[in-house]
Amino acid sequence: MNSQIIVIFGASGDLTKRKLMPSLYWLYKHNRLNASFALLGVGRTSYTDDSYRAFIETQLPLFVPADELDTVSTTEFLQHIYFHSMDPDNVENYSDLKQRLEVLDKQIDNPGNYLYYLATPPSLYGVIPLHLQSVNLNTESHGQTRRIIVEKPFGYHLSSAQELNRIYNSVFREDQIYRIDHFLGKETVQNILALRFANGIFEPLWNRNYIDHVEVTAVENLGIEERGGFYDGSGALRDMVQNHLIQLVALTAMEPPALFNADSFRNEVVKVYQALKPLTTAQIKSQVIRGQYTMSHAENRLINGYREEKNINPHSRTETFVALKLFIDNWRWGGVPFYIRTGKQMPTKVSEIVIHFKPTPHSLFQGMAGNSSLNSMIIRIQPNEGIVMKFGMKVPGSNFEIKQVSMDFTYDRLGGSPVGDAYAKLLEDCMMGESTLFTRSDAVEASWCYFDPILSLWENDKSIPLYGYPAGTWGPLEADSIVGQENSWTNPCKNLTNTDLYCEL
Ligand code: BG6
Repeated sequence: MNSQIIVIFGASGDLTKRKLMPSLYWLYKHNRLNASFALLGVGRTSYTDDSYRAFIETQLPLFVPADELDTVSTTEFLQHIYFHSMDPDNVENYSDLKQRLEVLDKQIDNPGNYLYYLATPPSLYGVIPLHLQSVNLNTESHGQTRRIIVEKPFGYHLSSAQELNRIYNSVFREDQIYRIDHFLGKETVQNILALRFANGIFEPLWNRNYIDHVEVTAVENLGIEERGGFYDGSGALRDMVQNHLIQLVALTAMEPPALFNADSFRNEVVKVYQALKPLTTAQIKSQVIRGQYTMSHAENRLINGYREEKNINPHSRTETFVALKLFIDNWRWGGVPFYIRTGKQMPTKVSEIVIHFKPTPHSLFQGMAGNSSLNSMIIRIQPNEGIVMKFGMKVPGSNFEIKQVSMDFTYDRLGGSPVGDAYAKLLEDCMMGESTLFTRSDAVEASWCYFDPILSLWENDKSIPLYGYPAGTWGPLEADSIVGQENSWTNPCKNLTNTDLYCEL
C-alpha cells in the first residue's frame, strides 16, 4: 500500500471516535497500513496534536474490543496522529491546510497522496470538495493519489443528490470518489454474493417461479443516542432505507455480474434500482408505513420516547421506523413482493434477509398447514452471522406428521484470517483504489428516484399517518397490513445464540 495522509474532516465527531479510529487502529495493528502513513484530524475544536492524541487514547478502549487493544500498538498508532484546527466551511482556511499537509509530507516522506474522509454533517458534503479544489488539493500529478470518501446520506433528496454529484464530478474523477455505505463492508453482506454466485444449486430457484416473497430487516434496540441533531433532520428512510436496505435488496436480486470487478458489479446493482417499480400516490399511502417510538416501560426500565430525546423537536414528525413493500419489475422478480423494514428502539438488533420459497403444489402430509410453505432461507447479517435453511421433515415414529426443521451454518465455524469491521475493510479498499464496494453516482441517483416521491408525499400531505409504537416493540401494528393476511413479518428471537439461531418471539 502507498504511503498516504488520511485527512479526516469531522475529527472530533461521533463517527470518528466510534468507527474510523478503531478501524484505523485495527489496520495499523494488523500491519495493513504503510509504515509512513499519517492521520490528520481536521475540525473546529482547538486541539493540538498532543491533546487530540490524548482524546483518541481515551476513546479507543471504549470502541475497540479489549482483546485487540494493547499498549504498544496504541502508543505507536497515536504517534501517527496529528490535528489541524480549522473551520472546514471557510475557504480561506484551506491554504493553511495545504501548508500543513506539505509539512507532514516531508516529515513522513509522502509524495502528496491524500485520502479525505468526510465524517462531517451532510451540510458540508458539497462545500469541502470545492474548497479543496480552490487550493488544488484535488488534482493528482506525478502518480499521486487524491481520493475522497463521503458518508451517507449522499443527498437529502433526488435533486440535492444530483447537485452533489455535479459538484463531485467537477472536482474529482469518478474513480477518485468513494461514496461509502458501510453495510457493503460487512463480511456477511459480501457473502450474499458468494452464496448466490459460487453455488450452482440456488440459482435455478432464485426467481419468481420458486420464491414467494423476500423480507429484508435491519432493526436496532437503540434509540438515536447522541445523534438527535442529525437524525431529526434525516429520519429512518434517509438514514437506513435509501442506502443500506436497498443495497441488501440489490445484492439479493441482482443478476450475476459477468466479471468480478467494480464496473460489472456496480452495473448490476444499478439495474436493480432502475427496475424498482415506482410507487403511485395511493401505493405510498397503503404500502409504506412510517412510525415513531413512544415512551415505554419495556423490561422494567423507562425508555424515552423519540420526542423526549436530546436535540429532538418535541413535536417532531420524523420517522424512526419504516416498513414498505416494493416490486422489482424484471423477468426474474416480476410479481414477487420484497418487504423491507427498519426501526430504532425495537426489541433486538438484527439485520437479515429471509427468502420465502413457494409451497408445494399439493399438501400430502399432516402438519403441513394449508398452503403455507415450510421452506425458507435466512441470511443472517448480524449478529450470529449465518445462514439457516428451513424445510419439513417427518417426526420420528409418527404417522407422517411433518415438522419444520432448520439446518444452520454459522460463520464463526469458518475460521480464516482476522477480519476488521466494515469500516476497516472499506478504508483499506479505498486506500488500495478498490471501488467495487462503494456506491457509484448513477446508483445513488437511481435509488433516490425511487424514494423521492415517498419523501415528498410525506412532506406535502400532512394527513399521512405517522404511527406511534412503544419503544421496545416490533413497530406499529399497521406494518402488518402490508404483508397481507397470508404472511407475517419474521421476528427473530431476542436473545440469539448460535444453537438457537432463530425462533419466533
Ligand atoms: C448507520 C446509521 O449508517 O447505520 C445508524 O446512520 C445505524 O442510524 C447504523 O444505527 C447501523 O449500522 P450497524 O452496522 O450498527 O448495523
